Amino acid sequence: MMEQNQTPLLEAVTDFIATKPAYFRIPGHRLGRGISPRWTDSVGTKLFAYDVTETPLTDDLHSPEGAIDQAQKLLAVLYGADQSFFLVNGSTCGNEAMILSAALEGEKILVARNAHKSAMMGLILSGAVPVYVMPEVLPEWGIQGELTAADVQSAFEQNPDCKALFLVSPSYYGVCSDLVGIAEVCHAYNALLLVDEAHGGHLYFHDGLPAGALASGADLCVQSMHKVTGALTQSSVLHCKEHGVRSEVFDRIAQNLHLVQSTSPSYLLMTSLDCARYELAMHGSEMMEKALSLASYARERIQKIAGFRCMEGERLDRTRLVLSACELGLTGYMLEKLLYEKYAVNMELADDKNVLAIVTYANEREDLDRLVAACAELRRASQHGAMDMALQKNQEYPPVPKPPQQILTPRKAYFSNTKKVRWQEAAGQVSGQVLAPYPPGIPAIYPGEQISQEVWEYIECFRRDGRHIHGAGKDGRLDFVKVVESSFSDI
Ligand SMILES: Cc1ncc(COP(=O)(O)O)c(C=O)c1O
Repeated sequence: MMEQNQTPLLEAVTDFIATKPAYFRIPGHRLGRGISPRWTDSVGTKLFAYDVTETPLTDDLHSPEGAIDQAQKLLAVLYGADQSFFLVNGSTCGNEAMILSAALEGEKILVARNAHKSAMMGLILSGAVPVYVMPEVLPEWGIQGELTAADVQSAFEQNPDCKALFLVSPSYYGVCSDLVGIAEVCHAYNALLLVDEAHGGHLYFHDGLPAGALASGADLCVQSMHKVTGALTQSSVLHCKEHGVRSEVFDRIAQNLHLVQSTSPSYLLMTSLDCARYELAMHGSEMMEKALSLASYARERIQKIAGFRCMEGERLDRTRLVLSACELGLTGYMLEKLLYEKYAVNMELADDKNVLAIVTYANEREDLDRLVAACAELRRASQHGAMDMALQKNQEYPPVPKPPQQILTPRKAYFSNTKKVRWQEAAGQVSGQVLAPYPPGIPAIYPGEQISQEVWEYIECFRRDGRHIHGAGKDGRLDFVKVVESSFSDI
């Protein structure tokens, strides 16, 4: 019986390297020897030796029976799941697999409209029919808030045949939903609760954080372990926990993960997951205590700087700092630019009103001091007129529009014949593509939706301001958009 103080995959790869094999399998760099010296001169070769594949000692992600199986089982025990899977293609592939497994072609699924675009990719793959639910809007911050159990209840009353609900909690900004209440509603309708917990793998380790999805009744959830818990970029996990609802779905998960993941999964990524799990099991509560106390140290100080505000809230992951300096006339975009260009303080993202700092256990007090000092300095500069005035323009963006009419499923629209029309003439047409102003990268239009005037105007604000829009052409200018040539509704 394995214990949480073991790291079976790390040990298996280390044991294999110790056999000093004459290596004739992929990858061709031969345990690091063949990596370009341009790189190894500065970082060494040791780590690259761990970039192996399915050797006799290192198991197989797609049919695990040895070290990977043990590592995944330890993960499941730590999170209270029935079964857990390592993902090497981020939460992106986990979200795709959850949707593919829970809603087959033509079946209905409720989807929170602030879902990451990987949900749309899952819908394209599965052919399911999405029914959207709108999360609350936090007008003061200009961002989407939680999805309420009451909204979920009314969505199910109107669509009792929905097979599942897919939602994001916590959001990028750290806003969590009442998952306990939402899970009860889903299960009462014999539907699964699928939670994109990409930003929440750390919630399980401290009482000062909102409860995690699995602990709150979710049936399936994904977590980007690389976002906040020390694994390498792209390393994520998917957890399953049965609640006696639609049990047949759980058999499809492993099969669908084959569909969306590489047949050559990286052992560097998987070993990083094994080690991240070990650290959380051994030290999770101290790690989260540190992140929380650093974040609250900065939050208190920033709240005292006139012209700055830091988001507070009941169901908030308080390791996220959402800051606004709108009162100083700074949009989030400008604030992000100033913080980096003048003070080398690099934030996670900006929107028109806010910037977001993700504080983790691996930050140090000095990082937070630099953030606070930069904010104080910007405040002083604004008082003395020393700030680059050319940057001061507070553009108001309209609120996120309600979903436009859906004519085709995302899958049907995606695989339809499309033609390019000028963006200026696109209103009223059925979109053949996604358009998602970034950040936050949440689709404003899904393939198959009619581009309503309201949505057109919303996207136009971002286009006019030269903001990045996922789905815009190669030059990023959105001069043209793909629309469906002829559309007979399949819904
Ligand atoms: C809410 C949400 N879900 C899913 C993803 C995709 O995660 P990954 O980068 O691990 O593929 C992201 C990425 O930022 C995200 O913000």
